[in-house]
Amino acid sequence: AIERTLSIIKPDATRRNLTGKINAKFEEAGLRIVAQKRIHLTEAQAGQFYEVHKERPFYGELCQFMASAPVVVQVLEGEGAVAKNREVMGATNPAEAADGTVRKEFALSIGENSVHGSDSAENAAIEIAFFFSGLELVG
Ligand code: CMP
Repeated sequence: AIERTLSIIKPDATRRNLTGKINAKFEEAGLRIVAQKRIHLTEAQAGQFYEVHKERPFYGELCQFMASAPVVVQVLEGEGAVAKNREVMGATNPAEAADGTVRKEFALSIGENSVHGSDSAENAAIEIAFFFSGLELVG
C-alpha cells in the first residue's frame, strides 16, 4: 500500500551540507518528498518528539544533539514507505549498516547517525502530525 513516513535529516548531516545527497537516496529508492522544511528545534521540542526514549541513558545527549543545529523534517511517500525508508537509512549503528545505506555512507556514530525514520505506520502518523499540518502535505 502507498504509505507516508516521517524522516528527519539530523544536525550532523545538515552541518556537513548532506541534505541533497540524502534526498537523492530517498528519491532513487522511489520515495517522494511530499513535505519538507528546515527548522532549528529547541531542546524541549526535541525532548517532546523523543518522549518514548525518556528513560534511556542517552536521552539527554540525544535532545542536546537534535537541538545543536538545524534539521530537515520531511514526509516521504511511496509503496511500503516505512520499511523502504528504513532500508535506505540502514541500521541505527553505522558500524552495522549495510553498504549503500545513508548511515553506512554518512553517519558518524550511533548518536550522530544522520537520519531518523518512523518505525511503524502507526508512529509515522503521530510523528507527521507533530511537525506538519494536513495543508503542508502535497502528494
Ligand atoms: P533515531 O532513529 O532517531 O531514534 C532514537 C535515536 O537515539 C537513534 O536514532 C539514535 O540516534 C539515538 N541512539 C540510540 N542508541 C543510542 C546510544 N546508545 N547512544 C546515543 N544515541 C543513541
